[in-house]
Amino acid sequence: MPFGDESPAASEKSNLAPVLAEAIDIAREAGGLLRDLFPKPRDVGFKGKINLVTDADRAAEELILGRISRAFPGHAVLAEESSGGRIPRPDPMPRHLWLVDPLDGTTNYAHGLPIYAVSIGLLIEGAPALGAVYDPSRDELFHGGVGLGAYLNDRPVRVSAEADLERSILATGFPYDLRVSADNNLEHFTRFSYVTQAIRRLGSAALDLCYVACGRLDGFWEIKLHPWDTAAAAAFIPEAGGRITDYTGGPFDVFGLETVASNGLIHGALIRVISPAES
Ligand code: IPD
Ligand code: CA
Ligand code: CA
Repeated sequence: MPFGDESPAASEKSNLAPVLAEAIDIAREAGGLLRDLFPKPRDVGFKGKINLVTDADRAAEELILGRISRAFPGHAVLAEESSGGRIPRPDPMPRHLWLVDPLDGTTNYAHGLPIYAVSIGLLIEGAPALGAVYDPSRDELFHGGVGLGAYLNDRPVRVSAEADLERSILATGFPYDLRVSADNNLEHFTRFSYVTQAIRRLGSAALDLCYVACGRLDGFWEIKLHPWDTAAAAAFIPEAGGRITDYTGGPFDVFGLETVASNGLIHGALIRVISPAES
């Protein structure tokens, strides 16, 4: 087909596919680095009382930032270890903004628990457009994007078909300020414990979200995540048939504090447990 003869949707898709391919390649290379360093002694530092950082976080971030800046010199990037903490929504918003978590699951990694991932997402005009999440321990690469589908190791994935919260398995996590902030998810955790089949705390929000996309989990909620935790998977959860919103069921904002993701079928029930006043 001659250039320019595609529909706008087809042309956007064909433009984004090579960008996604590069993100996948970068996530795999950074994940390989994490996997190589995993059995070796780790240099662990503290960003807060229970918030760790390792030499592996920094090495993976350096690799990813170098590759993104070489491949996409005009694009902006926000990465966890060089960001200096919570980031407000940029104003003005760059047209292309990469959000990078070089090692999601640092606490697991530092303890030798092999549940961690690299998460690389791209926002276009502030909205999640595509992403790649790589789990080096299982050699599982989740990827996808708006108009591009949702995949696990190149096979399309779909959310679960569970419609009953009582039969659902959910995951969540807790913020690093849990000891000093009352807004620490413990009350929601208690409430969900009484009305679900099971709750898991895996320690990698990026993987939790991918597991919703591929149906291993029926739902997920967490407060105070960062944009680099959610941007990649938020781009392809809807492509897998799922939903991702804030705690009221309103539009999801990667710079916001609230994340609820599900197969769509239990989404209303999740919101009713989280925000009873909204229902
Ligand atoms: C953390 C993980 C964890 C979640 C925390 C995140 P990090 O990311 O995703 O599951 O509960 O809120 O900060 O610090 O390992 O990159
Ligand atoms: Ca993270
Ligand atoms: Ca991290």
